[in-house]
Amino acid sequence: MSRRAEVGVVRVTEDGPLLVRGPIRLVDERGDEVPVRRRVNAICRCGRSATQPFCDGTHKIVPFSPRAVPAASAEGPAGESPLAG
Ligand code: FES
Repeated sequence: MSRRAEVGVVRVTEDGPLLVRGPIRLVDERGDEVPVRRRVNAICRCGRSATQPFCDGTHKIVPFSPRAVPAASAEGPAGESPLAG
């Protein structure tokens, strides 16, 4: 199996959820496990879904314009991920 096939993929959609493809372990803000049953999971990033943390399509009817972030700017100035540590 290639390394590419082993890695999960998170796709940023335009004005919509994060689409997470592949096996994941999802935990909430308290660290409690959230059951994941689908191969592709849509994670809400507008904050308006009634089925948090999953997208329920509400982003289509509420004003929501996430800022586009080029992949090259995902790292901090020292070359470290903002999620590290
Ligand atoms: S991104 Fe779809 S409901 Fe929030």
